[in-house]
Amino acid sequence: RTVYVNGEYLPEDQATVSVFDRGFLMADGVYEVVSVLDGKLLDFGGHIRRLQRSLDELQMDNPLSEEEYLEAHRQLIAKNGIGDGLIYLQVTRGNPGDRDFAFPPAGTRPTVVMFTQAKAGLADNPAAKTGWKIISVEDLRWARRDIKTVQLLYPSLAKMEAKARGVDDAWLVEDGLVTEGTSNNAYIVKGNTIITRALSNDILHGVTRAAVLRFANEAQMKVEERSFTIEESQGADEAFVTSASAFVMPVVEIDGAAIGSGQVGPVATRLREIYVEEMR
Ligand code: PDD
Repeated sequence: RTVYVNGEYLPEDQATVSVFDRGFLMADGVYEVVSVLDGKLLDFGGHIRRLQRSLDELQMDNPLSEEEYLEAHRQLIAKNGIGDGLIYLQVTRGNPGDRDFAFPPAGTRPTVVMFTQAKAGLADNPAAKTGWKIISVEDLRWARRDIKTVQLLYPSLAKMEAKARGVDDAWLVEDGLVTEGTSNNAYIVKGNTIITRALSNDILHGVTRAAVLRFANEAQMKVEERSFTIEESQGADEAFVTSASAFVMPVVEIDGAAIGSGQVGPVATRLREIYVEEMR
């Protein structure tokens, strides 16, 4: 695989980053994941806008323009022959030359890394036919989940807990209310109404969430942006999650309780179809 590091395209085994990079020492960095379907980038502008917002919130310079990010994404797709897959993009605060809690001096160049992950058949993921089983765990992340930082240790622990219990993912719960999944936004469906937590600093402002809610409105489905409990989810007709990599993924079981019929539901299925149709 060819990867991108600070303006260079290199074989992955020749690409290097400093041991003093703040991303490595302090998780001082932000990232994006953009899907590629048939060689086409999905919602690239939405991801770059959110990247800028994450950088602004952390007072970090953005070393590249949108056009430069786009060019790098296109180069990586071409060089690695990506049909369906993902592009991972990370900006960290760079290498101050030593470890220090204070930010490095102004002008220190942020480190930009991008790489591809091939995922054949992304749109036809067979898991979307059977749905995910999930568990709930306490949300022990920091309080600025609207910033897409590379501090992913707690979501990784939650994912491992899910795997250890034989399921696919976990929903995170704070003060009795679902925030989101380990790496996706969470929804329930009651009748014709789609319910998902309102945007705040408690959750990531999903690019897929924005697209799916727009498509739901256009399809005359009702959308309620409010919080819900695990108990309410277990009594819902359907549940699902959204992310750049999972698109719309139905959820069929939460903490051992079947949701609705226990099968993938019509609303999640329809939204997934619309999403893929509209985005391709
Ligand atoms: N995760 N919430 C969290 C905590 C996430 O990490 C993500 C994305 C989302 C969905 O956002 P979007 O629709 O913009 O992808 C919600 C990416 C895919 C990841 O970490 O791989």
